[in-house]
Amino acid sequence: MNRIRRPRRNRKSAAIRTMVAETTLSVNDLIFPLFLIEGTGKKEEIASMPNIYRYTLDLLLEEIKECAALGIKGFCIFPSLGEDKKDKYATEGYNPNSLYNTALKEIKTQFPDIALMTDIAMDPYSSDGHDGIVEKGEILNDETLEILGKMALAQAEAGADILGPSDMMDGRVAYIRNVLDQAGYTNVSIMSYTAKYASAFYGPFRDALDSAPKFGDKKSYQMNPANAKEALIEADLDITEGADMIMVKPALAYLDIIKLLKDNYDVPITAYNVSGEYAMLKAAAEKGWLDGEKTMLESLLSMKRAGADIILTYFAKEVARILRNK
Ligand code: PBG
Repeated sequence: MNRIRRPRRNRKSAAIRTMVAETTLSVNDLIFPLFLIEGTGKKEEIASMPNIYRYTLDLLLEEIKECAALGIKGFCIFPSLGEDKKDKYATEGYNPNSLYNTALKEIKTQFPDIALMTDIAMDPYSSDGHDGIVEKGEILNDETLEILGKMALAQAEAGADILGPSDMMDGRVAYIRNVLDQAGYTNVSIMSYTAKYASAFYGPFRDALDSAPKFGDKKSYQMNPANAKEALIEADLDITEGADMIMVKPALAYLDIIKLLKDNYDVPITAYNVSGEYAMLKAAAEKGWLDGEKTMLESLLSMKRAGADIILTYFAKEVARILRNK
């Protein structure tokens, strides 16, 4: 039979398959999100995220040490606070002596070589559980920027390398960049949550931080899952306003958005493989319905293939171990 083109020839052995692979997963691309709680000597597993814990600072430092030894270079820290630390204006968010900011300082002192990333949004500190100031049921945009600016400054002072505004207020990247530059923090990077969708896949994360909105939802600031072109508007703004890297969140249900931004912009693109995506695979694997390891690797690879340069993922440690043994 005369078949000149036989694509299967390039798939005939493992050696050839790896040789022609267009995409690879590397530990260099991973950022591991970690949850911080008050106290010492405590490590609490998150019910909907098997093998992911909230750590007190002492144990968090040990976890970072282990992960750094596995080659993970990026860490993003999220604080989980008691209700007594929350208020309407998220003031604890910019207290330089807060649990979060003192932890950042200690982490950076002990691990100067890691890329330490933060989260900027009011929700972990807000008694309303929203990312912005709430007034008569509305989320105030410009008033919120002032608080985000103060949070950014406190985190930069604590030694953070990359700030991650996850709030989706308009104009926040420009506002934060200006605050940082005025204070001399011209070297602190901004990874903007550019296309952050109002997604049900954040459920387990909100359990982890106890940060679910006390009323309503986040649809007046996070993006509508129906929209793709709107991601271009957000990306245009964030890049013009000074974002060094841009993010798409969640990842798996939004691979088209990752590709869209990759095709249109030259800044590095991050995919946030969120809590619900982690929970989904873990639950199916626990039931024996899916091969947990293979589906994890396949989904992370698909994010790279779509165009992600960086992946924020709760699978980071597990993947780092697997990649090390390959
Ligand atoms: C806070 C924030 C959220 C996540 C990261 N930063 C939750 C939200 O917007 O409600 C979600 C991460 C995840 O689900 O893994 N603004």
